[in-house]
Amino acid sequence: MERERVLIFDTSLRDGEQAPGCSMNTEEKLALAHKLQQLGVDIIEAGFPIASVGDADAVRRVATEVEGPIIAGLARCVEKDIRVAWEALRCSSRPRIHTFLATSDIHLAFKLKIGHEEALQQAARMVAYAHSLCADVEFSPEDATRSDVNFLCEVLQAAVEAGATTLNIPDTVGYTTPVEFGELIRTIRSNLRNAEHVTISVHCHNDLGLAVANSLAGIEAGARQVECTVNGIGERAGNAALEEIAMVLHVRKDRYTVETGIRHEEIHSSSRLLSKILGFDTQPNKAIVGRNAFAHEAGIHQHGVLNNPLCYEIMTPETVGLPPDRIVLGKHSGRHALAYKFKEMGFQLSGEEIDRVYHEFTRLADKKKHVYEQDLLSMLFAQRSTVSQSQAAAEMRA
Ligand code: KIV
Ligand code: ZN
Repeated sequence: MERERVLIFDTSLRDGEQAPGCSMNTEEKLALAHKLQQLGVDIIEAGFPIASVGDADAVRRVATEVEGPIIAGLARCVEKDIRVAWEALRCSSRPRIHTFLATSDIHLAFKLKIGHEEALQQAARMVAYAHSLCADVEFSPEDATRSDVNFLCEVLQAAVEAGATTLNIPDTVGYTTPVEFGELIRTIRSNLRNAEHVTISVHCHNDLGLAVANSLAGIEAGARQVECTVNGIGERAGNAALEEIAMVLHVRKDRYTVETGIRHEEIHSSSRLLSKILGFDTQPNKAIVGRNAFAHEAGIHQHGVLNNPLCYEIMTPETVGLPPDRIVLGKHSGRHALAYKFKEMGFQLSGEEIDRVYHEFTRLADKKKHVYEQDLLSMLFAQRSTVSQSQAAAEMRA
């Protein structure tokens, strides 16, 4: 089946970086940008150039040194922001200006202190200005999901007429639900005129834990760009996690008709690189990239996985670039897992030996969170030496 492509727009270096404790210096941004290129993302949002001289410099370096993906920079719908963003981006062979303006009444009244008409004019004027500098312009109506839908559609239409080539629909505060968001994307698509060449994008935050589900609903409704971050980093509860979206579309190709250009085997190392740069890990149970995402400790599960990984795995760790060691020993593990671990270390244990070591193992596992290979070896050697001593004693008595 011919599959349509969904563009992966990675914003780890911009929205991701806006989260507390996630700021990155130029060298760190460059290292991650090179990794994102290897990972196969289509667009890298490298930063928000007006935010600081350092960020403008980082965007310029990424734009100069990273070849392949489109390099985007964020700008408010303000002339100076757009000019500074363009100065940072212009050395890229594929630059994109991403400009945004809030459209919800609450943002207009309390943040921008302007009405609908002024917002409409400002968005149209600034998209046109961005388009006069750069052919590739993305427009985002901030807080789209809490905006009046008629006004939202008016602003989007004005942005298309002013030259926007991508319309990104942000769920800025993570408020929407999948069915509602899917409907919004359908409404926008059916209302837009002369927009055949415009890509609809989705950008979801995770305040209610729905960022990935909402992004997928957007894709089902026809969005062909999805904005996300590695490990789901981002403002507050984060952005939609890149690895989760990519793997849902891959593992559930029976449900989705689209594909991404992500090289899945680069997912694990991209996640690790980001964690190293930031100095903190994902939570252990994080889908796809958490330490426990492919670990099996319970005996019944271990037995099943050793016989056929598909019993408890819907994708292999190798698919996302993880080494295939799935078996973690702990107090829930059974004899099969124990025998497997010994076999991996080069020891073929008899049923009797397994029984004896297993007894010791469960006593230790009750006291320790993890039982390591060294623990297993000392148990085995202790058992073997006890057995040979009692055999020698028996022979002496005979
Ligand atoms: O969440 C948001 O609204 C944003 C926009 C700037 C796209 O990050
Ligand atoms: Zn955002």
